[in-house]
Amino acid sequence: MAYPDSRPRRLRTTNAMRRLVAQTTLEPRHLVLPMFVREGAEEPRPVPSMPGVVQHTMESLRKAVVEAVEAGVGGLMLFAIPEHKDAIGSRGTDADGPLNAAIREVVAEVGDATVVMADLCLDEFTDHGHCGVLAADGTVDNDATLDRYAQMALAQAEAGVHVVGPSGMMDGQVRTVRRALDGAGHTDVAVLAYATKYASAFYGPFRDAVESSLSGDRLTYQQDPANALEALRETALDVDEGADMVMVKPAMSYLDVVARVRDLVDVPVAAYQVSGEYSMIEAAAAQGWIDRDRAVIEALTSIRRAGADIVLTYWAVDAAHQLRRR
Ligand code: PBG
Repeated sequence: MAYPDSRPRRLRTTNAMRRLVAQTTLEPRHLVLPMFVREGAEEPRPVPSMPGVVQHTMESLRKAVVEAVEAGVGGLMLFAIPEHKDAIGSRGTDADGPLNAAIREVVAEVGDATVVMADLCLDEFTDHGHCGVLAADGTVDNDATLDRYAQMALAQAEAGVHVVGPSGMMDGQVRTVRRALDGAGHTDVAVLAYATKYASAFYGPFRDAVESSLSGDRLTYQQDPANALEALRETALDVDEGADMVMVKPAMSYLDVVARVRDLVDVPVAAYQVSGEYSMIEAAAAQGWIDRDRAVIEALTSIRRAGADIVLTYWAVDAAHQLRRR
């Protein structure tokens, strides 16, 4: 049936009609808020390239997590910046290191009222800025890094984390982390695998946020933006290794990958709307070039429409408030 018998505009006539036929939902529970805590900070420090995002003190982190829980967000993803970095990222595995301390504080504050997740990667903690430890020739040593990830998983589990997020793109990281957790009796700690993580320029502002020391690039472990099949392979391997949930990152330039991964697996799929995606919209809005609030909801809805069950976004609390006002 074609025009004039068919008139698709009939289903767009009123708010109520549009609401009735809307296919994609966006609710606060779908959103996970990434948060940064800075060891030794006395005041929250704004991240210049991410307007509205701060490096928290332990004190301000506690307040912000309570606010996030009140807004109804689905979860929190914690990152920490240590005062001292070294070659093996020691502060990432020290029980009193800033990330493990933050997990303990946050869990003490919110308990099971939301899902507390932590980034499981060494890059914030190493003086060379790579996601793993280096071999003598300066390359990232996959298998030596796995040992460090196992230790990090245990430290995070002992601090009370609900979900660990291995994000370093080392081969075998999910199996290693799962076995380490199970071996120590932490069978309830879930793994959100950064299954597909592209080597992306859109991480730029994040590297500011975590005071990254990286001088080279991550092209030998993160994926080539040209490849989609590789994403499916990485995802299948991670599910096979025991991932409870898988992630695609970044989100907006990779919506095709989100859709294909969603079709491939039977576990929840997350997409990470990364720092650059956030900052581009904030920057354009600050110029008055786009309507910020509408752009935020549109972007998040699009990521859900592509197939993401869960969206990590720096706008989680902001969007939750917007959604409540509707
Ligand atoms: C690695 C990690 C990165 C991000 C999250 N986890 C950075 C990287 O690979 O360089 C980026 C997140 C963002 O850009 O918002 N620990």
